[in-house]
Amino acid sequence: MSRWVLVAGASRGIGRAAAQLLLEEGRSVVASARGEAALREAFANVGEDQVKIVPFDFSRVEDLEGYAAEVTGLTGGLSGMLYSAGIQKTLPLTQSKFALAEEIFRVNAFAAFELTRLFAKKGAYAPNGTSFVLISSLAAHEGALGTALYGASKGALEGFIPAAASELAAKKIRLNSLILGTVKTDMSMRFIGKMSEGQKKSLLAEYPLGLGEPEDAAHFIAYLLSEKARWITGQTFTLDGGHSVRVVYTAKEGG
Ligand SMILES: NC(=O)c1ccc[n+]([C@@H]2O[C@H](COP(=O)([O-])OP(=O)(O)OC[C@H]3O[C@@H](n4cnc5c(N)ncnc54)[C@H](OP(=O)(O)O)[C@@H]3O)[C@@H](O)[C@H]2O)c1
Repeated sequence: MSRWVLVAGASRGIGRAAAQLLLEEGRSVVASARGEAALREAFANVGEDQVKIVPFDFSRVEDLEGYAAEVTGLTGGLSGMLYSAGIQKTLPLTQSKFALAEEIFRVNAFAAFELTRLFAKKGAYAPNGTSFVLISSLAAHEGALGTALYGASKGALEGFIPAAASELAAKKIRLNSLILGTVKTDMSMRFIGKMSEGQKKSLLAEYPLGLGEPEDAAHFIAYLLSEKARWITGQTFTLDGGHSVRVVYTAKEGG
């Protein structure tokens, strides 16, 4: 059985934490992102039989066929893929022109669709069981100012899951996605860094279990990518430290 899992966005944050956990669990990883130096630094202590560094800019959606062929040549086919590459650009809707929409959708959504399609071709996946995981965001469900295009790109991922999963089930390929609340990474820290002290306090108050660590997402991702999750497909799971069930209103005593 193929041990190989492609991790798109493996150089930092959630992708890096998931890749490291997968390696600890004995899987092998194809690590991709744009920055080759960051990828090499992240996996400096891992042997070449366990990790293949394949730098790539996933906004180049038209070139993904060649990329997928290269990955298939290196691995002989994938048993899993985590698509964690993503960009978050916040801008008021009235200033969010089509070029920005295209930039965001290329990386956050179109590349994920195209990779799912390409790695579902014969010879590119393990026929005895393969799992793909895509990463969505609470931004697709909440109204954080300036995140309309980012939220839309994540909503597109969630909309892709049910029909694609039902088509791929015949090939024993499972497809699921995660809605993540705020996880402490470079991406979220940039977003939080622009907030006032009051806004930061309100954000923290919205997370009963605190903000997430990359490992909190990585453990669930590794489970979905494992054979243990062999009966799970077409689902979108929420991991948000209790954000969705926080107390939003408390009646006065006796009220
Ligand atoms: N952190 C959160 O709170 C949070 C919440 C909800 C959802 N998410 C989602 O979770 C995923 C991971 O986020 P993160 O917080 O781990 O972000 P991060 O720390 O900024 O890491 C993003 C990763 O994606 C790669 N990447 C970005 N653009 C790329 C491109 N054009 N081509 C190839 N690789 C690219 C980055 O490497 P290079 O820059 O070198 O390319 C990096 O490895 C994203 O899809 C994000 O939207 C995050």
